[in-house]
Amino acid sequence: MKFFTNKQAGVKVTPIFENEAYESKLLEYTKERELFSGKLNEVYANLPFNGEKEILLGLGKKEELVEDKVREVFFKLVKVLESNKELEVFVTLPKVESVSTEKLVNAAVEGALHATYKFDKYKSDRKESPEVTINLSTEENLENLEEVVNEARDIMSGVFFSRDLVNERAEYLYPETLANIASKELSALGVEVEVYDEKQCEELGLKGLLAVGRGSDRKPRFIVMKYLNNPEESEVVGLVGKGVTYDSGGYSIKPTANSMDIMHCDMGGAGTVIGTMKLVATRKLKTNVIAVVGACENMIAGGSYKPGDVISTLSGKTVEVLNTDAEGRITLADSVYYATEKLKVSKVIDLATLTGACLVALGEFYTGAVTNNQEFYNELSKAAKEAGERVWQMPADDSFRELNKSSIADVKNTGGRLGGTITAGLFIENFVANNVPWIHLDIAGTAYLSKAEKYLPKGATGVHVKTLYNLLNK
Ligand code: BES
Ligand code: MN
Ligand code: ZN
Repeated sequence: MKFFTNKQAGVKVTPIFENEAYESKLLEYTKERELFSGKLNEVYANLPFNGEKEILLGLGKKEELVEDKVREVFFKLVKVLESNKELEVFVTLPKVESVSTEKLVNAAVEGALHATYKFDKYKSDRKESPEVTINLSTEENLENLEEVVNEARDIMSGVFFSRDLVNERAEYLYPETLANIASKELSALGVEVEVYDEKQCEELGLKGLLAVGRGSDRKPRFIVMKYLNNPEESEVVGLVGKGVTYDSGGYSIKPTANSMDIMHCDMGGAGTVIGTMKLVATRKLKTNVIAVVGACENMIAGGSYKPGDVISTLSGKTVEVLNTDAEGRITLADSVYYATEKLKVSKVIDLATLTGACLVALGEFYTGAVTNNQEFYNELSKAAKEAGERVWQMPADDSFRELNKSSIADVKNTGGRLGGTITAGLFIENFVANNVPWIHLDIAGTAYLSKAEKYLPKGATGVHVKTLYNLLNK
């Protein structure tokens, strides 16, 4: 897709608010009233319109316009343009009270780009979609219009990179290849990437990660990515991503029918943090961030860890394994402890496709959150809102912590079915060293969709790349 700024070429697209639809010149088009009323997401493209070539774009009620609605509208517009083969348009974004013009431009470009994502590498008969050109200008003069467009482009490249990783199948994407991709893509942008193989993981003492990964022929990798670009600031943000490149459940095997086949998506957290690192480095943000991914496969073999085992972790805390399918929290225990104790990050966010319970609670629409620091969470919540990525905070107190206690070890790896997202989150809390501010994001529902939702496709979403970028871009 091409964008040019302050250029008028191609077919005119006129954004129209529902409450103003019949005030201006549209009054003349009375016969079209039933076909277009300015409601959100309406695109009237039955050209020519009253003798003039013009596309009408419904923005809904003026006072209700927010970034995410703009994303939806532009997504829809591009879909219509593609199917109508109307390949060059120009549009002037209106000035509104509810959103700054800059954010409006960002959202329009993001929405339009969302419409171009495809993961069709395994289709023999794939064909290129026609390329749409959008000439963009704004009612309110924006000095940095082109720069805002370029930033939105970079943001979407980060999101798409993350989606490609998560959509890729486990046959091709496993710990070693994930580490190679992260190394190659991020080193090129000046990120320092360290990869530890199985033997080096042993030396580091990553006993949790190794226990989970033991049953697979594809051995674990521990990936540390450092982007330190603000020497004046001592704060370093840690990002930890669950990197289970395939989750069969292990001996507590998953039902095969409708859940195991998508478990290549169980490195969704890793996909998000690697995508975020790529974006942050591409944009050369003045910030310090270290990302950590413990990558492994949860498989069945003679050497696999077993229900009933008691294993140790990097922190020295012991874990009673009651269910080998609750593997993510064990790998995260090591990664989070490594980030907070060994790398001494100042605060940490972990992202993980951690519990089916999160899907039961919040569907595929909201990420579930658990935190030990309300102020930090509020910051994240604001960043997520701007990104159009929905997050919902779970209650978390000692009643839930109690459920993770084990009679034989320090903790057990499942707190039971009830409140499963919360107990899983609070399990990880045990491995946050130095009591640094921590947020756990359970993206089991939001990282990989069973069907398309608004401008998001079926499959991988790249969720929270945008949230984290907003948070780090201060
Ligand atoms: N990777 C799964 C969670 C998951 C479910 C991710 C659906 C994406 C979509 C995780 O490792 C898991 O199996 N969790 C168990 C935990 C339980 C055994 C305590 C679950 O949610 O069933
Ligand atoms: Mn599992
Ligand atoms: Zn898992």
